[in-house]
Amino acid sequence: MDILEAIHTRKSIRKFTPEPVSKEILRKILEISARAPSAENTQPWEFYVLGGEVLDKVRRGNVEKLENFEMPPEEMHHILVERPKGSVYRNRQIEIAKQLFSLMDISREDKAKRAEWMARGFRYFDAPAAVVITADKSLPIEGTYLDVGSVMQNICLSALEFGLHTCIENQGITYADVVREYAGIPENQRLAAAVAIGYPDWDFPANRVKSLREPIDNQVTWCGVE
Ligand SMILES: Cc1cc2nc3c(=O)[nH]c(=O)nc-3n(C[C@H](O)[C@H](O)[C@H](O)COP(=O)(O)O)c2cc1C
Repeated sequence: MDILEAIHTRKSIRKFTPEPVSKEILRKILEISARAPSAENTQPWEFYVLGGEVLDKVRRGNVEKLENFEMPPEEMHHILVERPKGSVYRNRQIEIAKQLFSLMDISREDKAKRAEWMARGFRYFDAPAAVVITADKSLPIEGTYLDVGSVMQNICLSALEFGLHTCIENQGITYADVVREYAGIPENQRLAAAVAIGYPDWDFPANRVKSLREPIDNQVTWCGVE
C-alpha cells in the first residue's frame, strides 16, 4: 500500500473478527516497524505480543478491576489526566465521543450500554492480538515517549499492508499490574503504549467513525517560508 494511502486509511478500529493473526505476520509487522527513528538510535522499545490465553486473562483481569472501580496503579495516573473544560482539546475529545456514542446508539442515561462500551476498551476490543510497547524505566520519559510514538505509528501503518487494522489504546494498559502479571513484564519496564490488532468487523457501527481534523492552516505557522 502506498504510504499516503496508508496514512489516510489508518483509523481506530473498535471491533475485530475472531480470525487469529499469525505469529509470522505479527513478527513481520514488528520487524519493519522497528525501523522507526529514535534519538541517537537508542531503540528504547520492547514488544510484548499478547494473544490466546494470555490476552484473555488480561481482558478478564482488566474488566474485573474496572467493575470494582479499582484505581489504576500510580505509574499509570498520567493517562487519567483530564483536559481543561472549554479547551479545544476537551472539545475535540467530546466531539469524537459524541460521534462514537451516536453510531453505537448509546444515550447519556443508558448506564448499562455506557459501561459495556467502556469495558470494550479494557477488553482490547476483543482483538485476537495486542502489542504492548514498553521501555526501560532508567531512560528519560519524554524522549522515550517520542521514540515509542514513532514505532507505534509504524505498527498501525504497516499492519494495513496485511489487511489488519489497529486501535492504539491507553485503556488496555491502565491496569498495568494486570498486564505485568500475565505478560510477565518486569518492574523495570515502563508500559508506554498498547495497540490492539486484528481483522476489522466492518458491520460494527463504531468502525464507521470518521475522526475530524483541524484545518491545517489553523495549526501551521510559516517562518521564513514563501
Ligand atoms: C496514546 C493514545 C491512546 C489512545 N487510547 C485509546 C483508548 O484507550 N481507547 C480508545 O477507544 N481509543 C484510544 N485511542 C484512539 C484515539 O481515540 C483516536 O486515535 C482518535 O480519536 C483519532 O481517531 P482515529 O485514530 O480513528 O483517527 C488512543 C490513541 C492514542 C494516540
